[in-house]
Amino acid sequence: MPRTRALAVFPGSFDPVTNGHLDIVRRGLAVFGRVRLAILVNSEKQPLFSVEERLEILREAFRGNPRVELDTFSGLLVDYARKVGASVILRGIRALSDFDYEFQMALMNRRLDPRIETVFMMPAESYTYVSSRLVKEVFQLGGRVSDLVPPVVERRLREKYRGKAPRAGASRTRAKRRKR
Ligand code: PNS
Repeated sequence: MPRTRALAVFPGSFDPVTNGHLDIVRRGLAVFGRVRLAILVNSEKQPLFSVEERLEILREAFRGNPRVELDTFSGLLVDYARKVGASVILRGIRALSDFDYEFQMALMNRRLDPRIETVFMMPAESYTYVSSRLVKEVFQLGGRVSDLVPPVVERRLREKYRGKAPRAGASRTRAKRRKR
């Protein structure tokens, strides 16, 4: 597929990465030569996974894809993009509810550096409701997330919550399955 040689930075929290993010990366790679996922360090949010854990997860999720790069950044995104020679900031938009926030960020970033263009991509419809926050909530309450995240994330979630939170729904589901 024809594409530019541009490097696109895909910034985010990725706490954890979801199939929606993976879908955006796949679409990004169809247009840009390289896509670099950059995890924001020192976010105000209280993350479930440490930055190092998130990097490990991304490494496993994108293993064997030479056009996907992984990194962390702090400070202004445009400064980071300029430093690594990226001309594009890639972000996914799932629904209208994302738009206000994304639009504000894109215009602020443009004001800070007009040479860096923000490009929005839409994930597949089946991922429009998938967010890292909901994945964590659903998993913790015992719901199934295997269609929503790569296998490494499901495994890491299991490890993270092992012996911590009561995954009540999960045990109920297992009990039901045993009955059948
Ligand atoms: O996945 P998220 O949490 O929605 O990602 C938000 C992110 C990392 C893209 C955003 O918080 C960001 O770019 N932060 C860096 C600080 C910055 O550059 N702020 C000014 C422009 S809005």
